[in-house]
Amino acid sequence: AHTPSTAPAASATTPGPAPELFTWEFASDPYPAYAWLREHAPVHRTRLPSGVEAWLVTRYADARQALADPRLSKNPAHHAEPAHAKGKTGIPGERKAELMTHLLNIDPPDHTRLRRLVSKAFTPRRVAEFAPRVQELADGLIDGFAGTGSADLIHEFAFPLPIYAICDLLGVPREDQDDFRDWAGMMIRHGGGPRGGVARSVKKMRGYLADLIHRKRADPGDDLISGLIRASDHGEHLTENEAAAMAFILLFAGFETTVNLIGNGTYALLTHPGQRTRLQDSLAAGETGLLETGVEELLRYDGPVELATWRYATRPLTLGGQDIAPGEPVLVVLAAADRDPARFTDPDTLDLSRRDSQHLGYGHGIHYCLGAPLARLEGQTALATLLTRLPDLSLAADPAELRWRGGLIMRGLRTLPVSFTPVP
Ligand code: HEM
Repeated sequence: AHTPSTAPAASATTPGPAPELFTWEFASDPYPAYAWLREHAPVHRTRLPSGVEAWLVTRYADARQALADPRLSKNPAHHAEPAHAKGKTGIPGERKAELMTHLLNIDPPDHTRLRRLVSKAFTPRRVAEFAPRVQELADGLIDGFAGTGSADLIHEFAFPLPIYAICDLLGVPREDQDDFRDWAGMMIRHGGGPRGGVARSVKKMRGYLADLIHRKRADPGDDLISGLIRASDHGEHLTENEAAAMAFILLFAGFETTVNLIGNGTYALLTHPGQRTRLQDSLAAGETGLLETGVEELLRYDGPVELATWRYATRPLTLGGQDIAPGEPVLVVLAAADRDPARFTDPDTLDLSRRDSQHLGYGHGIHYCLGAPLARLEGQTALATLLTRLPDLSLAADPAELRWRGGLIMRGLRTLPVSFTPVP
């Protein structure tokens, strides 16, 4: 007979029903569902909210393998469901084929060529030289609300900082940057749907960038767009379309991700007071070590990119014991892999001093984030400046009431209300 006294042992080996994915509850805390999948269905076929079927990969070892597996293509033309692949550029609201040739949609040898060319212009040195400007941006934005004692940190800080930073880096003149802020705002508010406003914003941005590339070709400066036009490798250059697609992907890959690094990171600090105090103390002592390991840990603990961008099997393969057929899409769940207890000690604990954090928050393999040095600079500057200038910063909402965006690829808050002692 089945008695309650034997139930605990039985339930420890019998998984309950698979958790429901992509609900509102899931969007606010997907980690319990990911823990279930990692344990019971590590390579799991699911139907996405769009109706498309895809494999979700949730264990660290499988995720790392999949991210670097040449049998998994980034080219949407390999998707077996042609309706899905048609015109898909990965850019919200964008259906135009000209922008198809960006890094996250192509494989070697094209990817190798384009990545080598962009790396000649988007160098670690360019990023390092940009540090004073990022500091100036962070301070200027905080000046805007420091006297009031309250703010929505998403709209007043996390959102504008990366858009102004990337505009400056690309060489968009300051007087035009508020247009970019508006266009980007439209896209982040309304997500990737084909709604009119988003499509119009993308069209305006595309037109503006094409025009800017023409102008920079005639009158180059020391900005990144001029660098992209100038970059050559064995006599090869980027075509005008490739330069436009590159400017676009830098903008799209570098914008919402960084908003969410600052937003999720600040939220994690405000809800882990012990860790936050340690960081504040170390900053007050003029140290940067904990800030550096801390930003990596925040990326591992609750990173901006929940699922890596799409991959499609080009040949039959077996991943985590599961057979995957050519044409089937594979989504690597970075947020699940980075909480895998087989890889990280106490994975659900935030530990800013964690040193072995080879997290997958920036991906892995040939598509590893090109903008990681810039993202680190922005994340470290933003968090250090906030905690230093507004030392008693606190959350002004019940965490249960905060709303998460619930997009497929990105994880981030809609708003982050805070309060603090006003600083004149
Ligand atoms: C690729 C994360 C910021 C530019 C990626 C990938 C991830 C990622 C996970 C790989 C996607 C995949 O393999 O499917 C992040 C995070 C960021 C961030 C978490 C912020 C915290 C930036 C910034 C830029 C940027 C600031 C540039 C301005 C790119 C580009 C790629 C990429 C161009 C494509 C690289 C390739 O395919 O070769 N990023 N990113 N990212 N990221 Fe980032």
